[in-house]
This record gives sequence, C-alpha cells and structure tokens, in this order.
Amino acid sequence: MYLLDQRRLPAAETWLRLDSAPEVAEAIRNMVVRGAPAIGFAAAFGVVLSFQQHGSAAGWRNRVDSDIEMLAAARPTAVNLAWSLARMAKLLSAESGKLAVSLLDEAQDQLVTDREQNLQLGQAGAALIEKGSKVMTHCNAGALATAGYGTALAVVRVGHWQKKIEQVFVGETRPWFQGSRLTAWELAKDGIPVTVLADSAAAQAMREAGINWLIVGADRIAANGDVANKIGTYALAVVARYHGAKVMVVAPHATVDMTVSDGSGIPIEERSADEILAAAGIESCLPEITVANPVFDITPAALIDFIVTEKGVFQAPFDKAFKGLKTGKTA
Ligand code: MRU
Repeated sequence: MYLLDQRRLPAAETWLRLDSAPEVAEAIRNMVVRGAPAIGFAAAFGVVLSFQQHGSAAGWRNRVDSDIEMLAAARPTAVNLAWSLARMAKLLSAESGKLAVSLLDEAQDQLVTDREQNLQLGQAGAALIEKGSKVMTHCNAGALATAGYGTALAVVRVGHWQKKIEQVFVGETRPWFQGSRLTAWELAKDGIPVTVLADSAAAQAMREAGINWLIVGADRIAANGDVANKIGTYALAVVARYHGAKVMVVAPHATVDMTVSDGSGIPIEERSADEILAAAGIESCLPEITVANPVFDITPAALIDFIVTEKGVFQAPFDKAFKGLKTGKTA
C-alpha cells in the first residue's frame, strides 16, 4: 500500500510504500498518516497486508492477531482505529474460505462509506450555519484525515459551495502544524479563503474578526458528549463561548464511544518532548527543562452546541440524545 507522507506537506508530495503491518503501525505512530478516520483505514489495510503475509502459514491467526494488537496500540486516543480493526477482526473470526478477498473488500468498503458519510456530515453541518459566517477550525479534520472531504472541513466545503462562508481561520496547531501545513493547504487548493494564525492569536481573532463558529473534528466522543480532539480545542471552545460563537463538532458516528461514560475515561496520548523542543527547527527551550506534550484534550460537553454525525445532529443533553445509537468499538 502507498501512503502520502503528511509530515512533508505542503513542501513535498511524497508517497511511501508499505509492505507489512508493522510498517503500517510505524507510519501511524510516526504521523505519516494521521487524523482519526484515516489511521483506522490505514490500519485496516495493514490487516490485509498481515493476512497476505501470514495467511497460508501454520499458526497464521496468532500472527495476524498480534499485528492487529500492534496496529491498535499505535495511537491510543482515536477510537476509530479500534473500530476499523474490530471490523477486520470480526471477519477473521468468520473463518470463511475467501478471507483474503473479504478483508480487502471490508477495507475498501470503509473508504467508500466514509467518503459518502463525509458529504452527509457536510450537508448536515452546513445547514446549521448562516450566510456570511466566519469559521475557526483547528488541526486538520479534512480530506487528509478521512477518505473523502473531511469532517469539519466537509462542513466548510459544503458551506463554501453554498456561499455561506466568508472566511476560515486556523491556528498553526503546534507542534505538528496540522493547521498551517495541512488545513491551509487543503482549503487553498479548493479556493476557500483561509487565514493562518499563531495558536495564541485565537482569542484576539475571535473578537476582532467576528468569528461566529468554531467547527472541529473529534478523535473520540464519550457517551455524555465530552469530546477528545487535538490539544487546544478545549481552549478554543472556552474562547468561543465567551465571545458568543457556536461550537460544532463533526464526526462519523463511529467516533462516539458509548463504552466511555465521560471524557475522563478517554486515554490522552502523550508524545515525545522532542516534538516541542524542536518545533519549527528552533531550539525553543533548554533540553534539561521538563516538557509536557499531551496531544489531545477534552472539551466538556457543556461547551458544545452541536455534534454532527451521519446519523443525525445531536444537542445537549448528549447522553439522552445518544441513547440507542450503536457506536463505539464494535458497531
Ligand atoms: O494528531 P492528529 O493529527 O492525528 O490529530 C487529528 C485531530 O485531532 C483531528 O481533529 C481528528 O482526528 C479528527 S479528523 C477527521
């Protein structure tokens, strides 16, 4: 399989060839591919590779299972990874004679379904926004993070087609710069007006530019509506509430994890201090200083106005609204 190396965007469009599940797990861990749905799809194809490699050997099931475990552990916060892998594992348990074909079909089907769902999310979210809207987004919840148009950025794309969006603002999203490197690149390619800000400029921009929507994706949504997303989302939601901007979280329903009652049960990935120390190639801090690098945060449900999924648009109280929604790791 081939993956666009997102670490090198926008400077270079380089495709990496991966031949085994461990290589795919490493690519997920190292941010070659990132974004909750996209890492799930990459992992699903990792299982296809694992079965191609081990499927005819004695004890193949144990080897494929341990590859699945390795893929699942590559990044802990986004539930989509577990969701995609659970679907692949279900097929393995079916013990059908044509496993190679059905695994590939399932992985491809996840891509096709996601693309369709992106458009549904885009339409449902854009229906909520007003003409002349100014939108703040964060990180990259776009085509690069999904199989199609994105989640938050699908709303932006449809809103732009419908001439409702005047301007999009995105923070750099340190330390990986998904906002300035990926979101700005995607939107500029589509001719959507985008302004990049330092992350710390958000509150000032919210007030001065009259931003009326914060629209973001999610890595995991708890049963009570608490949302795990890229570090900084929580601060943006607080700032949005203070300035009267509405907050919309956009995600496929597979991102809702009903097995976790609130945000405190969502594991927050902590990455290497080097990512902070070497950001933008500047020696930003003495190496002996203690650095914390949590890469996601929890936005409390109380700060969220709408959670848009392809199964519907949900409003608080989310625990009641989500009742009956079959989601989480195995839906
Ligand atoms: O660390 P990343 O780049 O994988 O973080 C991505 C995000 O936080 C996205 O907002 C989220 O995965 C939703 S992508 C549709």
